[in-house]
Amino acid sequence: MDTSEIRRRFVAHFERAGHTPVPSASLLLDDPNLLFVNAGMVPFKPYFLGQETPPYDTATSVQKCIRTPDIEDVGKTTRHGTFFEMCGNFSFGDYFKERAIELAWELCTKPLADGGWGLEESRLYPSVYAEDAEALALWVKVTGLPADRILKLGKRENYWSMGVPGPGGPCSEILYDRGDAFGPSFDPTQLGPDMPVPLEDRLLEIWNLVFMQDELSAVRSKEDFDIAASLPKKNIDTGMGLERVALLLQDVHNMYEVDVVFPVIERAMALTGKKYGADPVDDVRFRVVADHVRSSMMLIGDGVTPGNEARGYVLRRLLRRAVRSMRLLGYDDPALPELLPVSRDKMGETYTDLVSDWDRISRVAYAEEDTFRKTLQAGSTIFDQAALTVKRSGGTVLGGAEAFQLHDTFGFPIDLTLEMASEAGLTVDEDGFRGLMAEQRQKAKDDARAKKGQHADTTVYRGVLDENGPTEWLAYETLETESRPLALLSGGARVDVLGNGEVGELVLDRTPFYAESGGQAADAGTIEFDGGRLEVLDVQRPIKGLVVHQVRVVDGELPASLGSGALHARVDPEWRTGARQAHSGTHVVHAALRQVLGPSALQSGSYNRPGYLRLDFGWTTSLTPAQVRDIEQVSNEALRADLPVGWQYMTLEEAKEWGAVALFGETYDTTKVRVVEIGGPWSRELCGGTHVEHSSQIGTVVVTGEASVGSGNRRIEAFTGVEGFAYLARERDVVGQLTSLLKIQPQDLVPRVADLVERLRAAEKEIEKARLQQLLAGGAELAAAATDVDGVRVVAHRVDGAGGGDVRTLALDVRGRLGNDAPGVVVVLGAADGKVSVVAALNEAAQARGLSANDLVRAVGPFVGGKGGGKADVAQGGGTDTSRLDEALAAVTAAVAGS
Ligand code: ALA
Repeated sequence: MDTSEIRRRFVAHFERAGHTPVPSASLLLDDPNLLFVNAGMVPFKPYFLGQETPPYDTATSVQKCIRTPDIEDVGKTTRHGTFFEMCGNFSFGDYFKERAIELAWELCTKPLADGGWGLEESRLYPSVYAEDAEALALWVKVTGLPADRILKLGKRENYWSMGVPGPGGPCSEILYDRGDAFGPSFDPTQLGPDMPVPLEDRLLEIWNLVFMQDELSAVRSKEDFDIAASLPKKNIDTGMGLERVALLLQDVHNMYEVDVVFPVIERAMALTGKKYGADPVDDVRFRVVADHVRSSMMLIGDGVTPGNEARGYVLRRLLRRAVRSMRLLGYDDPALPELLPVSRDKMGETYTDLVSDWDRISRVAYAEEDTFRKTLQAGSTIFDQAALTVKRSGGTVLGGAEAFQLHDTFGFPIDLTLEMASEAGLTVDEDGFRGLMAEQRQKAKDDARAKKGQHADTTVYRGVLDENGPTEWLAYETLETESRPLALLSGGARVDVLGNGEVGELVLDRTPFYAESGGQAADAGTIEFDGGRLEVLDVQRPIKGLVVHQVRVVDGELPASLGSGALHARVDPEWRTGARQAHSGTHVVHAALRQVLGPSALQSGSYNRPGYLRLDFGWTTSLTPAQVRDIEQVSNEALRADLPVGWQYMTLEEAKEWGAVALFGETYDTTKVRVVEIGGPWSRELCGGTHVEHSSQIGTVVVTGEASVGSGNRRIEAFTGVEGFAYLARERDVVGQLTSLLKIQPQDLVPRVADLVERLRAAEKEIEKARLQQLLAGGAELAAAATDVDGVRVVAHRVDGAGGGDVRTLALDVRGRLGNDAPGVVVVLGAADGKVSVVAALNEAAQARGLSANDLVRAVGPFVGGKGGGKADVAQGGGTDTSRLDEALAAVTAAVAGS
């Protein structure tokens, strides 16, 4: 049965049982704790936690998931994929354990002809959390299996959490016994509390039913966590691995051989001429290729671009591991253009965006392979040098620091370094490397935490919301309201009063303030009351429905217990005007960008505040000045056309039909989205921001620059409204100062400056020539004044103010003048900017006497606080002590005399 049929049957089974089918969310949901969606329940988390009311009581989905902690296991086991699809059914306070067991068991055991999986009951083993007697009894009741056929396991297997604070609960799994060929025989009554590792391939977990009832406040490991409270309701969250069921129903060995993955292996076989199944080491490489190609494609599809941090780094690693594995299989040409389309043809049947967005996806992937190929070239040179240094010093171990540098700077995977080292007869200090990696990872984590702010404990906000209901939010309608304080918080706890000068958080019954979201900065303004005034510093929505103002008391003191209408909240009207201009300006620039570059240029992030906007978008090459000018021009034409700006609500489906641009990584309520349009279809975007009414009100859009922000992403920046005019005025001022300085007209500025630059360059060249002449003019004199030291003509000379290049030129010049009739030795010392340069140059006769330039530089070393080296004829060095140059020169004579 092919994968799409398995998927279809799953959804149909649960739809028949009354579940609402929900499409897969993007892999990039905005959860500070998760890099990627890693389970089917992630999009529903706010429903489980009671933060939001679900629009349905039960749902079913097939969710795209990425899990990369097991990346090293990919290809080595039968069941670890970095990308997989999780089929799930969910109950939000509707049915609980019994119905979940019934539904899952029915689908597993129902004959194929009746729409089920037709799995043999004798091969199925349910498991329960050992302390969950209720689940055990229900399994016996529903399935009729004897209680001793049901495995009783510990927390590690049968208590599920997200691995981070969030919902969780005891769970039951359905395992499938694949038989003796896949592991040792076992006695179900003797298993537990942990599943023995050798049995993991034999007893394949296909479905996990989580009885979600707890809220966890801390998760230290699978067995060590804190349960903070019971969830408001008892829920069901299940996850069935689509690839795992497919491997059973397609009777193949592992998840890399199922119908939607294996064609990539077949293509890789054709390219490399190697056979899958012939050599276990190659087989792992084939599977890595198949898995990583698919995962990378899905990630790029959802808007990730390769980079050195977080999500971008994961993608980079996947792509590079795929390319690298192909090279290890013997294929050195660009591999992705051969493999990626094969994966698209399979996955595109379900995820049609892969096909429609192919241009962009393939461009990003191929560009990364290209970069990696260059990296390999550059890194190989660095590696060769490092290996040579180790060997020269008689060592056999490449240092951890070198391996880390190769990884960090050149993106060399450690396995590549290990392999190249072993080819060169070296080993690598892996512990040292891992130590440095751990340090870096910790630093990245700390940075991320610092950036995101503390993971806020939302309990106190939830308390406020439960007591009072959602904030009446009037940002679209008005700039001023009469409001009442509902809660006053300081340091995360409720307080009764906020004193003069203090900063705290204030929740109102109603507010005109816009909370930061969708790239738009929070409103600024004031809140006044009888006897006092607050300045609004920030406005956030920590949980859905609740607007929280961060305020400073600038006058009086604020008691929490004020009555209805006692506060007058007022958004600074100028601020809001600027904010509206900037946000509408962002949409205008986005539309102009796509008009100029094509529809595959899509916003990947944005930020706007009054007067300023920036927009990041997926694009692999830098823009030409003409493109930047065009974007600015199209934008300003749209302003002059005075296009009407409006918004309306519709379902996500309708918005898509309308061609509205939805942004990567945003979560949308599928039943109600807000579409903002400028000039009808000219610009349509899903957006919750505040906007102008006509495009001309934006005033102006002045694009100030375009730059790269990590591989595959560019950033364009612009000023809007009066800030735009102010920027132009500043530029005009600069032009004014220059024209008056040069006493010319503005139109002559560019040719005049170009002329000046040209003349300056010529003058610098002349000066350099003169300086060199002067330096070398002394050469003849120096050669003539050579002293005789035991039959060797020696010139030992210092030039104050000369750098390394000059010192070398002079030394070689003097050596030339000494000729080769008699042994000649030249050592020149230069001191400039606190640094000493030394060059020794010997003629052949001197070398024949056994003298060596290398030795002379070494003899000088101790006096100048430095070192150096080279060959017998010319050697060079440097130091940091300029105080003993004369002693150094004497050392040269002494060294020659001793020879
Ligand atoms: N959320 C559960 C899992 O990921 C079903 O296994």
